Amino acid sequence: MPRRTSSRSARRPHHPPAGNPAEWPLYEAEVLRGLEEVARTELGTVRGLDILSVGDEAVQFRYAGDLSRLSRLRSVTAVYAVRRWDVPRPRGLLGHQQLGELTGWLREVAAQGGHTSLRLSAAGRDTEVMERLTAEIAAGLGLPHQPEDGELRLRLRPAADGSGWEVLARLTPRPLSARDWRVCNREGGLNAAAAYGALALAGLRASDRIFNPMCGSGTLLVERALMGPYEAMVGVDIDPEAVACARANLRAAGRRVEVAQVDALNTGLPPRSFDLIVADLPWGDDIGTHGGNAELYPAFLREMHRLCSKGGRLLVITHEIRLFERVLAGSPWQGRELTQIYSGGHHPKVYLLTR
Ligand SMILES: C[S@@+](CC[C@H](N)C(=O)[O-])C[C@H]1O[C@@H](n2cnc3c(N)ncnc32)[C@H](O)[C@@H]1O
Repeated sequence: MPRRTSSRSARRPHHPPAGNPAEWPLYEAEVLRGLEEVARTELGTVRGLDILSVGDEAVQFRYAGDLSRLSRLRSVTAVYAVRRWDVPRPRGLLGHQQLGELTGWLREVAAQGGHTSLRLSAAGRDTEVMERLTAEIAAGLGLPHQPEDGELRLRLRPAADGSGWEVLARLTPRPLSARDWRVCNREGGLNAAAAYGALALAGLRASDRIFNPMCGSGTLLVERALMGPYEAMVGVDIDPEAVACARANLRAAGRRVEVAQVDALNTGLPPRSFDLIVADLPWGDDIGTHGGNAELYPAFLREMHRLCSKGGRLLVITHEIRLFERVLAGSPWQGRELTQIYSGGHHPKVYLLTR
C-alpha cells in the first residue's frame, strides 16, 4: 500500500461513467521512485479514473473505463488490478469460495491481457501455503506456473488497514516500461518510463528545436517523438552501433528523426541551434569511465552552452552525481535538480538547466 497518502480527485470527465466512483474497480500503478508526481499527472488525464492516493512507488486509483487505455500509460512500469479478501491469513484464500472467486477474477484479467503463464511474487512464495495457492490458481486458469518470468504476475500482501489480504494481478504480460518500439537494446539503455518522466518534467513545447547528444539506443528520442509536436529533433552518438540501434527503434516506433554518427562535442553546428537539449550522459559504470567523465562532463557543459539558444533548456540525466554537481557549480548554467529516479539498481538524478 502507498505509505505517503494524499487525497485528490482526477480531472473529471465531461460525461462521467455510470455508477458510484467509490464502487469502481480498484487498481494500483507501479511507479519508479521519483516519478510518482509524473504518474499522478498522466493518470489525471485519463477519463473515468479517480486517484485515491499517491505513495512511494505506487498510485492507487479507481477506474471504470476501457482497460486498453491503462496499457498505454507511459510513466508507470505496470498496472495491477487489486482485490481484497476478508481472510486472516493467505491460507484463507484456499477456501472453496475464496478460491473460486479468486480464479474467476484472475481468469477475466488473463482473458483481457492475453497472459500465457503466471508467477507469484510474494514474500514467502516458497512456503507450502503459497505453493499450493499458486498450483491451484495455475490449474484453475490452465496456465503454466513459471516462477521467474510468468506473464500474469501476482502479488499478495496484507491489506493496509489490517482487514484481510489483497491480491494484485498485473494487467499486461510485460511491464509497460518494456515498450513495443524497443527492437534494439544496448548496455546502459535508459528505462523508457524514466525517459518519459524526465521529458515530461522538462516540459513539452511545440516550438522546441531538440538535440539529443549521446543518444545511445534512442530512448529519449523515441519517447519525445511519441509525446507530441516539436519544431525539429536530431540525435547523435559517437558509436555507429548506437546510431543503428536508435534508428531501428525510431523506425519501429514509426517516427522519423535524424540520427547521425557525430561526436557531440564536435558537431560543427552553429551556436544557439537548439532550444532543448536532452542528455543521458555516460554514468561511468556500464558506459564510459569515471576518469573519462571527469574530462567529458565539463567539455559537455561548455559545448551545450554554445549550442543552446538564449533562454533554452538543458535536461541532464546522470548517476555520476558528485562529479556533475561539481562541474555544474563552475559552469555558466543556472539550474536545479528535478528528481532522482530509482531504476534497476541505479538512482540517477534529473537536472533542468537554463541558459
Ligand atoms: C548512457 S549512454 C546513453 C543511453 C541512451 N539514453 C539509451 O537509452 O540507450 C551514453 C552514450 O553516449 C555515447 N557517447 C559517449 N561520448 C560521446 C561523444 N563524445 N559524442 C557522442 N556520443 C557519445 C556513448 O556511445 C553511449 O551510447
